[in-house]
Amino acid sequence: MEQAKIGARKRLFSGIQPSGTLHIGNYFGALQQWLEHQAEFDCVFSVVDYHALTSVKDAALLRENTFNAFRDLLAIGIDPNKSILFQQSRVQEHPELAWILDCLVPVSMLELGHAYKDKVAKGLDANAGLFNYPMLMAADIILYDTDVVPVGADQRQHVEYAREAAAKFNLAYGKTFVEPKEMIVENVAIVPGTDGKKMSKSYGNTIPLFGSRDEIAKAVMSIVTDSSGERPENVYAIHKLLPVGQSHLDKIYANPAMKGKYKLIKEALIEDIDAFIAPMREKRASITDADVKRIVEEGSAKAKAIASAKMAEVRQKIGVTL
Ligand code: AMP
Ligand code: TRP
Repeated sequence: MEQAKIGARKRLFSGIQPSGTLHIGNYFGALQQWLEHQAEFDCVFSVVDYHALTSVKDAALLRENTFNAFRDLLAIGIDPNKSILFQQSRVQEHPELAWILDCLVPVSMLELGHAYKDKVAKGLDANAGLFNYPMLMAADIILYDTDVVPVGADQRQHVEYAREAAAKFNLAYGKTFVEPKEMIVENVAIVPGTDGKKMSKSYGNTIPLFGSRDEIAKAVMSIVTDSSGERPENVYAIHKLLPVGQSHLDKIYANPAMKGKYKLIKEALIEDIDAFIAPMREKRASITDADVKRIVEEGSAKAKAIASAKMAEVRQKIGVTL
């Protein structure tokens, strides 16, 4: 049976791994869309700490990253009165369902998983958690009767796997899960980092979302520029993400007086990033540890209520209830 959703709105689920500090690539590539979806969808957002366990092995670091991820999400405007915001590991139904799904999908399907294949191709030792990662993600999604999952293009396959897992369960045990659809944000380009490659914490080329003005300035000044074109493309690509308007950009990039003045152009970008982030930074500073804890507890209790009702049905159907 489908759980009641608020009104007739569709359910949207998304998750973020607490595997480091947020950068502006995360913001413009994913989180900004989360904010916009809050008005239209019945949203469930999770900080997926059990996913991060595939890479983070330091308990203090995982705890800190998870705490900060919640604080950051609240600071950018995820509203716990509108959306459910919860910690994945507090809802044990996720790994429980992941196991059940693991027993339904073939090894050959997981062997084709991009995250796993990439790691193996790089000659790195993948743990079994990384191999099974897509079924934990499938459990995250389908436990909440999710209709849509907004993700970057790199996560498309994972949502397809979630749909496949839901379909396999429904076929084996009767209709139980909604088969979710991905919502790929097409017009959000990959945000480039300071070296022009995809901004990523693993490349060390990020502009931190909650950096101080000095940290932002240092990162922006290190952006690699190419003097051959009309404008410094790597700088422009970041600048145009900000809600400053085309005429403001033209004053900087189409102004003959600014031509070739990369230092001045970068200073204008620093100014605009700082102005954009300042209110979020202030909000972040006003959120106490106690606020974060309370919101995580309340949100996780709401998620738990939905997930446990769903799992009661699942346990019944698979034959583990006596
Ligand atoms: P990650 O921290 O790499 O797991 O990414 C978390 C979310 O941010 C995912 O939805 C990514 O698609 C998005 N993201 C990360 N880096 C970028 C980037 N450089 N450009 C656009 N989106 C990004
Ligand atoms: N795999 C996603 C990423 O690395 C994170 C994630 C885990 C997720 N569970 C999810 C995203 C469920 C959307 C829905 O970005």
